[in-house]
Amino acid sequence: MHNLFQMQKFYTDSMLEITTFLEKKLKTMRAKEQLSFEVLNPDFASSTYSGNLIRHNNQDFVYRSYKSWLDLAHILTCKMLTPQVSGEVTVIITFEKLNPDDSFHKSINDKEEKYGEASIFSQIHKMQEPAFVHYYAQALKNVHIEKRTRILNLGVNSGDEFALIKSLVKNFKDLELIGIDYCESAIVQARDTFKDDTNVSFYAHDINDLAALNLGEFDLIISIGTLQSSNLEFNPLLMSIVQNQLKRNGAMILGFPNCRFIDGEMIYGARVKNYAFSEMGLLYKDVIFSKKYLQQKKYRVTITGKDYIFLTASSIR
Ligand SMILES: C[S@@+](CC[C@H](N)C(=O)[O-])C[C@H]1O[C@@H](n2cnc3c(N)ncnc32)[C@H](O)[C@@H]1O
Repeated sequence: MHNLFQMQKFYTDSMLEITTFLEKKLKTMRAKEQLSFEVLNPDFASSTYSGNLIRHNNQDFVYRSYKSWLDLAHILTCKMLTPQVSGEVTVIITFEKLNPDDSFHKSINDKEEKYGEASIFSQIHKMQEPAFVHYYAQALKNVHIEKRTRILNLGVNSGDEFALIKSLVKNFKDLELIGIDYCESAIVQARDTFKDDTNVSFYAHDINDLAALNLGEFDLIISIGTLQSSNLEFNPLLMSIVQNQLKRNGAMILGFPNCRFIDGEMIYGARVKNYAFSEMGLLYKDVIFSKKYLQQKKYRVTITGKDYIFLTASSIR
């Protein structure tokens, strides 16, 4: 039970005041501890933007949507729990402090198995995250996936990105899909998932040595969350893939992570070494390099997405 007597109320405070207060409080708390505060029930108003003043029974409230509270929870590296109705027009919002050490980003596995079957990474199902799957499916539709007969995926992991193609297109059997990943256990899983699909094959192989596989050229190359890996050199690798593996009239879908997976939550914003906060310089640099390079090579390029940025390129030759 919440003790309403001691309950922190944020009725008219500014968002800066609320954020500062909660930041201070969270610093004194351990991971998994919760904090609660009472606010205007967002259902009490509609067609209202956050920040508008609502008056009820001589009491002022600043309206804020659940999106605002959820954004704040993630900015403060917390999970937001189900709000509890506490009065006629109020709810109690509860944040649970996440455990920053519970993340595959901090995994101590050897580099090939960091993303393997037994890793924390394998518990992440991006195809169930709207901020991922919506934009990935949109990118696939934009390149007319059903017409891209030969498809290569670099960093395919356990094959989820192929599974979505399978559920999207009617002519899956007519496509030839090849997935590469140097993580043996992920490739074993991928092979098992597609054991009945003779048009799908997987190689446990290093992308640095792609040429050795002699795979020929592809109508579509997909690579999500992989080319920026520290063991790969982004610019030369991208240029080499476009020059050697992509057909003249081919297409490309590149996915760049703009989030972190922490203790069960997908938290917006790319992280790089030496910064305690989200810093997107590297993300923008690689996205813009890819865009400029592909435009030079006569591709139409669009950039979409949210927690993952999707660069979609289609040849205009
Ligand atoms: C962050 S995961 C992304 C996997 C998947 N595309 C996704 O978005 O869920 C990066 C993947 O690239 C693979 N990888 C990284 N460097 C590689 C390399 N040099 N050769 C082959 N695979 C590599 C990893 O094993 C891992 O499965």
